[in-house]
Amino acid sequence: MAVILITGARTGIGFHTAIACHAAGHTVYAGVRQKSHKLIPPELDKTCRLLELNICKASDIASALQTIRDEEGHLDVLINNAGINRLGAFEDMPEEDYRQVMETNFFGPWHMARAVLPMMRAQEYGQIIMISSLSALIGLPGDSAYAASKAALELASESLSSEVAPFGINVNILQPGAFATELMTKTEQYTQVNSDSPYAPLIEALRQNISPTKTPPTSERNDPNIVAEYITHLIETNDTSLRHLVGDQAIKVGHHIKSLNENDRPKLIRDVTDANWWFVGKAPSMTHK
Ligand SMILES: NC(=O)c1ccc[n+]([C@@H]2O[C@H](COP(=O)([O-])OP(=O)(O)OC[C@H]3O[C@@H](n4cnc5c(N)ncnc54)[C@H](OP(=O)(O)O)[C@@H]3O)[C@@H](O)[C@H]2O)c1
Repeated sequence: MAVILITGARTGIGFHTAIACHAAGHTVYAGVRQKSHKLIPPELDKTCRLLELNICKASDIASALQTIRDEEGHLDVLINNAGINRLGAFEDMPEEDYRQVMETNFFGPWHMARAVLPMMRAQEYGQIIMISSLSALIGLPGDSAYAASKAALELASESLSSEVAPFGINVNILQPGAFATELMTKTEQYTQVNSDSPYAPLIEALRQNISPTKTPPTSERNDPNIVAEYITHLIETNDTSLRHLVGDQAIKVGHHIKSLNENDRPKLIRDVTDANWWFVGKAPSMTHK
């Protein structure tokens, strides 16, 4: 049975994956940003070993790995799951928000992977699972920070996979479709829409589109347990293929995006954005500053 470290385990895909890995018999170290958070699920606390692990804090990373080294002497699997999203226009999304997305979705997993690699190289075994997104495949309007962070993560991970294969370390990239987690609620909550921005109507419309009132309830298709089960299977089989589209939607949309030629991509972007008025320059309150 494997010793597994997963980041961002308080909610969503991370939570379900931690529980599924524990149920499969693995030893799970579950990273949460704040151990004192009042909404840590009791089920997580009871089954996994909780670690305070903000992936943007070098001291948290060092102490989490020291704990695992002291208690287990080795780490078999790192699941780089923690992530955030913020909507905003390329031109004027606040730089601090843009950097926060890059710090969390790219540099966080980058720091985590660099921290575990010496241990994995020494033991000549390891698996690093990066949770990416379909957003890495296509740059939708308002999504440039998130798309860039996930695309950067994917290509860096692809380079990493061939660098570490000779040491017996396997890297997997997961591209989930849409799953019912807190991600959208938090994105809506933390996205800043500056009413003076020429892009305000677009960003506000996109923000409203992901509002929880418009989010479909958890169903068989968008249950995050699907991702959790996929990851558990990936660990058990030590599957060495690099990219994995996860869920019906990801498989359908992902293959479609990959099959498009450059001329067809703008049409898809318009169709999925659901804001055709923007593309034809007809936003009601557009000021063209
Ligand atoms: N849900 C989807 O449809 C979907 C689709 C494609 C990819 N993904 C990816 O799947 C991963 C998990 O997202 P989710 O959907 O499960 O959303 P979620 O429920 O919001 O989970 C994200 C987790 O990451 C944690 N986190 C954020 N910043 C962190 C930091 N600096 N250090 C440590 N933990 C941090 C959050 O902690 P707090 O709760 O403390 O904020 C939260 O527990 C993300 O990488 C996301 O990009 C999700």
